[in-house]
Amino acid sequence: MEYNEILNKAREMIKDKCRVCKDCNGVVCRGEIPGVGGKGSGSSFIRNREKVNEIKINLDTIVPEDKIDTTIELFGRKFSYPVFAAPIAAVGMNYSTAMDDYQYSKAIVEGCKKAGTFGFTGDGVKDEFFDDPLKVIGENEGMGIPTIKPWKNEEIINKIKKAEEQGAMAVALDVDAAGLVLLAMLGKPVSTKSVEDLKEIISSTKLPVILKGIMTVEGATKALEAGAYGIVISNHGGRVLDHTFATVEVLPQIAKIIKGKMKIFVDGGFRSGVDLFKAIALGADAVLIGRPYATMAYGGGIEGVEKYTQKLGQELLETMIMTGCHKLKDISNKHITI
Ligand SMILES: Cc1cc2nc3c(=O)[nH]c(=O)nc-3n(C[C@H](O)[C@H](O)[C@H](O)COP(=O)(O)O)c2cc1C
Repeated sequence: MEYNEILNKAREMIKDKCRVCKDCNGVVCRGEIPGVGGKGSGSSFIRNREKVNEIKINLDTIVPEDKIDTTIELFGRKFSYPVFAAPIAAVGMNYSTAMDDYQYSKAIVEGCKKAGTFGFTGDGVKDEFFDDPLKVIGENEGMGIPTIKPWKNEEIINKIKKAEEQGAMAVALDVDAAGLVLLAMLGKPVSTKSVEDLKEIISSTKLPVILKGIMTVEGATKALEAGAYGIVISNHGGRVLDHTFATVEVLPQIAKIIKGKMKIFVDGGFRSGVDLFKAIALGADAVLIGRPYATMAYGGGIEGVEKYTQKLGQELLETMIMTGCHKLKDISNKHITI
């Protein structure tokens, strides 16, 4: 299937919740939750995308010719590109019941694996939102990262044990889901976590733990103190708080303090391989992409996810050629202008 065919098929399948816009920027879906929009006015989602677009690339091809290497090493494994599918859960409610969370995660985890990367999976109010995607990770030699909501510590630790049993290569905790009032209303409260809480969680496992939903230098410093393997600079795609900064706005200041001490992932409004380049130039090690992966999973299943990942990788490679970068570590803020 061609990329545009996949988009057209997705448009048909998820039309009640997502218009599959040419540029997925949060404008027409603002405020649509359940659905795919950002919270409230939708400004956090919209700003994520706007600020990525404001970054421009500095072209320079007068460099010696050499092989271009887009690979990245994480958890002792090598991946083709520094881009991974972000966790998305409760897809029946947010997209369409044409897929359940098991089928969705199968498309994401297997599609990413085929392209030489991996996908994160999500969690939610029903046990199946965590367990079914985790089953898929188990069926794929642990090539995926389950993301756990900030429930009570005991429940988080139980879920980490389940992830260990399925051979997951790491676990993530979306600490920014602490304000999801809907979960409490449905009888499953989440809460904020102290550094001590996080230390208890992180020391309960040998798996690397990634804290997702960090937007300040203070938050990143506390994640480091708690012993996290890495952070995802994220505002949950603008779904947990209105009027936040864009993730690319806070990325440089966080990277300045913690680069090299913890892995830095970032998400929010990244859509193309050129966008991946921008994130790396600002100090990220790797990028997560959310909504566009969901579109590809609905429109093209495993093949759609694989194709999109390869497209991102090819665009990143072309951007590296056009900026004279041979390895990811060559990419720096001198290659961009804001
Ligand atoms: C419908 C939907 C469901 C999501 N579910 C989860 C989730 O279960 N856990 C989580 O950590 N993030 C969740 N997210 C946030 C994404 O992981 C990611 O942070 C965000 O989508 C990135 O922004 P982007 O979509 O602009 O790329 C969800 C996002 C959407 C749109």
